[in-house]
Amino acid sequence: MSSVVVIGTQWGDEGKGKITDFLAEKANVVVRFQGGNNAGHTIVFDNRKFALHLIPSGIFRKDTINILGNGMVINPKALIEELDMLEKGGITEYKLAISDRAHVVLPYHSVLDKLFEDLKNGKKKVGTTNKGIGPAYTDKSSRIGIRICDFIDLEEFRDKLTDNLNYYNKIFKLFGKEEMVIKDIFEEYKEYSKRIRPYVTDTSILLNNQFENNRNVLFEGAQGSLLCLDHGTYPFVTSSSPTAASVSLNTGISPKLIDEILGVTKAYSTRVGSGYFATEFNSEIAEHIRKTGKEYGTTTGRARRIGWLDTVVLRHSKRISGITGLSIMLLDVLTNIETLKICISYKLDGKIIDFIPASIKDVERCEPVYIELPGWEEDITKTSKFGDLPINAQKYLDKISELTGIEIVMFSVGPDRKQTIVLKQMYI
Ligand code: GDP
Ligand code: IMO
Ligand code: MG
Repeated sequence: MSSVVVIGTQWGDEGKGKITDFLAEKANVVVRFQGGNNAGHTIVFDNRKFALHLIPSGIFRKDTINILGNGMVINPKALIEELDMLEKGGITEYKLAISDRAHVVLPYHSVLDKLFEDLKNGKKKVGTTNKGIGPAYTDKSSRIGIRICDFIDLEEFRDKLTDNLNYYNKIFKLFGKEEMVIKDIFEEYKEYSKRIRPYVTDTSILLNNQFENNRNVLFEGAQGSLLCLDHGTYPFVTSSSPTAASVSLNTGISPKLIDEILGVTKAYSTRVGSGYFATEFNSEIAEHIRKTGKEYGTTTGRARRIGWLDTVVLRHSKRISGITGLSIMLLDVLTNIETLKICISYKLDGKIIDFIPASIKDVERCEPVYIELPGWEEDITKTSKFGDLPINAQKYLDKISELTGIEIVMFSVGPDRKQTIVLKQMYI
């Protein structure tokens, strides 16, 4: 038995979906533990491409149980659209379980998300995905959230929906927005409620039983460590915690059950939305990376911001989650760049620092300190072992390991499942 947490070490979109799908071959269970359909996880195999937002990336393995954990916020309409999309793609045999304690995202959450963003001026806008994630987690903390167990009980759902919309309609009115009609939402969503009901269960019990039976379990993080509500670049973060510590609380297992923590890391950096990004640069090279890496959001289609690899960020992620191995992704995208830069520390008011300050004012004054490494020109997309890589690509990977103090256990040279190279079989 083994359990592995897959987490993003940067600002999301590191390739967590690809790695989870790859490792799922040997997993009995794959669990999403936080976030909602703000996530966009791309999986490519057999010349087919799937984008998942809510459903765990183990769904393509028919014997693997896929769990949506209690820490998630689930938009039932989006979930059903995703199931329909899978069915159209020929994925009809799967095992799915939805936590009865997860929270439901409803249409008013997206309207509130947009409203709150619109009310912020310029620099203060977070640049959310507008999927209603923040407002849904706010309802959870305010103890007015509607959970999946309420959602599948139509009387309870109607009652709670009525309370919440009576409240939020007052806010919409105040800001000159159209009020939402309770009956219309109820009539539409009661159909979704019926469809998801068969999958709903106490997933903490289900998961603990799997552990008792010595099964292999994968936890699939969404977003990235720097988007963590507690340890990210607040307030430019999401509303949940995509760290290893979040797994136990958000799935209902003991933290003692976690064996390994795999940090998924892009060979460079990207960020969508606003906020601090010390190593960001705009140049022909950035444009080359954006084009080659297809750096446009899976969920919103927005062009991702591009930056050099930042090892201050990686050491921060290592510290807060205890990462035991790295998987370096999109290495192929760096081909044909003459000189590569890696950030090794920051300079703040003339002093060298090796941490991310809490205050946004300080963070914005941090200047990256770089080392430079020579690039490579050879096509690496067909590489099947470390030794096949051009020597400069080998040195680039070795340098990342040296600067982070984490062993590189896997790397990836293309979007396809097959373009994954395992260096150490420590996972599952
Ligand atoms: P996630 O949110 O962490 O699952 O990552 P996304 O799926 O949002 O973004 C990663 C993107 O990179 C997707 O388009 C993947 O298909 C793609 N990808 C993953 N690994 C590689 C790789 O090694 N090379 C290239 N070129 N693309 C990759
Ligand atoms: P995956 O799982 C990249 C970003 C948004 C915004 C901030 C808050 O695909 O890596 P939210 O809608 O969560 O309130 O937005 O977080 N964001 C992501 N960026 N990948 C994601 O998920 C993200 N999920 C949220 O762009 O800056
Ligand atoms: Mg993504």
